[in-house]
Amino acid sequence: MLASKRILLIIGGGIAAYKSLDLIRRLRERGATVTPVLTRAAEEFVTPLSVSALAGEKVYRDLFDLTDEAEMGHIQLSRSADLIVVAPATADLMGKMAGGLANDLASTLLMATDTPVLCAPAMNVRMWDHPATQRNLTQLQADGVRFVGPNEGDMACGEYGPGRMSEPLEIVAAIEAELGGGPLNGKRVLVTSGPTHEPIDPVRYIANRSSGAQGAAVARALTALGAEVVFVTGPADVPPPDGVQVVTVETAQQMSDAVDAALPVDAGVFAAAVADWRVSSASDKKLKKSRDGLPVLEFAENPDILKRVSHMEKGRPALVVGFAAETDNVIEHATAKRGRKGCDWIVANDVSPATGIMGGSENAVILISDAGAEEWPRMGKDEVAKRLATRIADALSS
Ligand code: CTP
Repeated sequence: MLASKRILLIIGGGIAAYKSLDLIRRLRERGATVTPVLTRAAEEFVTPLSVSALAGEKVYRDLFDLTDEAEMGHIQLSRSADLIVVAPATADLMGKMAGGLANDLASTLLMATDTPVLCAPAMNVRMWDHPATQRNLTQLQADGVRFVGPNEGDMACGEYGPGRMSEPLEIVAAIEAELGGGPLNGKRVLVTSGPTHEPIDPVRYIANRSSGAQGAAVARALTALGAEVVFVTGPADVPPPDGVQVVTVETAQQMSDAVDAALPVDAGVFAAAVADWRVSSASDKKLKKSRDGLPVLEFAENPDILKRVSHMEKGRPALVVGFAAETDNVIEHATAKRGRKGCDWIVANDVSPATGIMGGSENAVILISDAGAEEWPRMGKDEVAKRLATRIADALSS
């Protein structure tokens, strides 16, 4: 994806600098050349030796290094890349960039360049919220600087909120999007979402509390990474995202048929809360109160769409992702569910009422795969979706 792309990576001085080592590795895996620049403060967090060993390139550190100037002047260095990535972009670096300061190699390169710049901010939540940082952010955005993150979550300093640097794979996805085409360009992904309605008669139905928010967020995040998304949705509370191919259905059987019609796809994400049963005795006329007593409903099992697709011998998507909503022993139940359904990953969450997750804006998920159970911190459903989309992009690229 990034073959023959040249990235100038400016590493600022923050605890998140350690993630930049992984970022270098991920970029090189994708064929990019990474030229690293360390600020003096960054050297307190990562060593020039580890950075250059991972990058397989010389590390640039000092503005007044005459050897460097003889080999490659800072002006040339600043223009030799396809993209300049600042990760972590500290409050200090953002301030220098917004104010036009050039008193060290990193800030001078950023002033001298005519190459697009992508920043991955990382700082304490109060520093991020500070009016000066927010002013600098607005200024830099107006200057055309692009941003990825920061994410919300627990911080190294013990506080919680926005300020965590995006994960390396999220930064890779943003870089790929900047350099033309997201990592899911050319990939077709199916997402099921929302509840299903199972009719009892023409005016009554059996439903569930799914709002469709998580499925819509996943579809949006996949689209943002360049995927062509077929979005099969039951009657949800939230509207479908822009830019997807929407197929609206009502019942589980209709959803199952719509999924078949959408195949083949590279990946399927089954976020819908599908009713397990339908009313086999559904009436085509409205049921009336009768003197003969209460109506008796008979049920039949609905097709298990996830299980069916996971077990397809022909045309199975390369990656099948299911969701598991559990109220107790989440990891144990979800791991068993992954085995029963035959899917590659299960995104499990605890929907017991105390968590406020069902119908809420946040989610705390555990990703269950061959590699075991990976707990993600509680975060917005959009953040969960972005993280999942980048993981899907990574899985489909390897
Ligand atoms: N699913 C599906 N078709 C169904 C039922 C579920 O595709 N008829 C998918 C959901 O979209 C979700 C996953 O299967 O990705 C988990 O569904 P869930 O209803 O929680 O699992 P069940 O098999 O019903 O297990 P249990 O009732 O024991 O929780």
